[in-house]
Amino acid sequence: MSGSSPELPIVVLDALMPTAQRLVVNRRGSMVWEVESDRGHYAVKVGHPIEATADWPAQPWTALAPAREGAVLHRLGRDDFAYGEWERGTWNFQPWHEGPDLYRLWEPCRRNDRPFEPHADVALRCVEALAELHAKGWAHGDVQPAHFIIGPERTHLIDLALARGGRIPAGYDFPFRGCLVHYEAPEIARSVLATGGAEPTQEADIYALGASLLISATGRRAVEYPDDAPRPVQREAVAKGRRRPVKVPGELGELIEAMLSHAPEDRPTLHEVKKALS
Ligand SMILES: Nc1ncnc2c1ncn2[C@@H]1O[C@H](COP(=O)(O)OP(=O)(O)OP(=O)(O)O)[C@@H](O)[C@H]1O
Ligand SMILES: [Mg+2]
Repeated sequence: MSGSSPELPIVVLDALMPTAQRLVVNRRGSMVWEVESDRGHYAVKVGHPIEATADWPAQPWTALAPAREGAVLHRLGRDDFAYGEWERGTWNFQPWHEGPDLYRLWEPCRRNDRPFEPHADVALRCVEALAELHAKGWAHGDVQPAHFIIGPERTHLIDLALARGGRIPAGYDFPFRGCLVHYEAPEIARSVLATGGAEPTQEADIYALGASLLISATGRRAVEYPDDAPRPVQREAVAKGRRRPVKVPGELGELIEAMLSHAPEDRPTLHEVKKALS
């Protein structure tokens, strides 16, 4: 397949009969498409395995991620999605959510020339989206700014491929091996370094929410490490809690600081965060 332009699997074409389609991301092991059809407006995710290279071991789980997410959507009782298998892995489709993500929405806050204050109301909407998942007994496991889509009516928390909280069919399940290090809580980083894996928790999601708000509002990571540091070195810094001071003004800044507490039990609950922001 390498060299040719990517195409949607036939099973997905048959299911959706697209009238328009656009490739949104095509990263190692994963493609996302925006698809319009008479049936509706969808995000289509297509996974395939990552072959081993000189620098990387093979990563078969990327092939399973869309089906795993589909199983999570099913457990959460969501509407209007489907998932299944294709020749090289699995796929899912789910409703397309219109709107900028948190990082893009807060771009004006990161400009040196015209500093805008991050809106507490936007933060509140992200908190509510995560709280809705937590209230159902789930942890997201991969909270990051790109996963909050700030729609006109509500905020959607997307990418549930790593979420934990209910049974997943064994054939589509795979172990959690950490997330993007910028958003990884110290206890997760420590566990990944020690054992190669970790257990996503709601407390770790709250840390990741704090790190997401901080990076989106200021462009600065919660923890200090060089940009080009290898991942284990980044994880060491996170595990040791080499935190930077939070430079976000007001109540929001104090909340972010608390969400980034080293010990999970020192972080506020989302209920407390919601109350403080309302
Ligand atoms: N339901 C959706 N509505 C709108 N955009 C979406 C939706 N799902 C995915 N996207 C877009 O596609 C991007 C990648 O989606 P997603 O994070 O679910 O895939 P991924 O393969 O897990 O990517 P990553 O490895 O970066 O987490 C999102 O950041 C967003 O821009
Ligand atoms: Mg993602």
